[in-house]
Amino acid sequence: MRSDMAGRLYHVIDTRGFDRPLLDELCELTTTVRNIAKTVAGAQALQALLPHARAMLYFPQPSTRTFLSFNNACHILGIRTSEIRDPATSSEVKGESFDDSIRTFSSYVDVIIMRTPEAGYAARAAAQMDRIPRPVPIVNAGSGKDQHPTQALLDIYTLERSFADRGGIDGKVIAMMGDLKRGRTVRSLCGLMRNYRGVRLVLVAPAAFAMEDDVKVELRAQGIPFTETSRLADVLPEIDALYVTRIQTEWDTAEESRGMDYAQFGINLANLPLLKHDAIIMHPLPRGPEIDPAVDEDPRAVYWRQERNGMWMRVAILVKIFRLEDRIAALAATLPPAPADRA
Ligand code: NCD
Repeated sequence: MRSDMAGRLYHVIDTRGFDRPLLDELCELTTTVRNIAKTVAGAQALQALLPHARAMLYFPQPSTRTFLSFNNACHILGIRTSEIRDPATSSEVKGESFDDSIRTFSSYVDVIIMRTPEAGYAARAAAQMDRIPRPVPIVNAGSGKDQHPTQALLDIYTLERSFADRGGIDGKVIAMMGDLKRGRTVRSLCGLMRNYRGVRLVLVAPAAFAMEDDVKVELRAQGIPFTETSRLADVLPEIDALYVTRIQTEWDTAEESRGMDYAQFGINLANLPLLKHDAIIMHPLPRGPEIDPAVDEDPRAVYWRQERNGMWMRVAILVKIFRLEDRIAALAATLPPAPADRA
């Protein structure tokens, strides 16, 4: 992330630069906008904020949630959207370079939200923007195996909201499980943990998909204690949050994940009783077999709420990028209070 000034957002590329005040502000803003949107008058007032703004959603890598939640977040604020999801429908098939494509998008819109299979492309787009006469902010909606900063922000919001009555994220034991090597969500989430006091991480993965060293070096440098294990049952009784991820088979080169027994890296009705009664289960989704759908009925399963939180956090991110915080505060002060929300 590059912010022009403390507390401001411009490009959102990775989790660097997100300090605790900014994270707290984004979480508060997320709750404020979702409350405003609950009444018709509130929803209309939000839609009147950015009718002049346009966004490009450039998603050549598959996406359901991130695309739809950003698209709808734009619409909630009145931003009109254009999209390219299949590069076969763009001039990339005529050989246009990535840089020229991004510059072209920037000619027509006010923000570019992008997801690519390559790591580093959002950063490259942001660097290009910083060189051209009419730059627009770049928001990384997932860059290869590397970063997914807006997912990490909605995960922080979900954790904070779930632990609202218990001091928030501070002091919690958070387990991340699954394909920690190739899953960008857990890499980005680790990058935000330095902002919380007394957090301990438990990294649960098969040896072949253990967390990469760069993340572990950073965790050590920031003094965040973590342990690594491949035995979920041993740690289930001690954790406050279990962040489950799927095995990212689309990245297989030598079929690394074929024939592996992933049953040990899943949560189901058999091992669920080991989890504390007030712990939570998260997942960025889409899920594979690692969460038995029967777990959805358990009150500790918060992943469907987490999914919906994503749209509201992305509204908050856009509010910050377009510097509408004061307008939102004014709306919150004038509109009638909305009914309570359990999500
Ligand atoms: C994640 C992603 O794309 O990295 N999905 C998402 O954005 N919610 C997780 C995944 O695909 O496993």
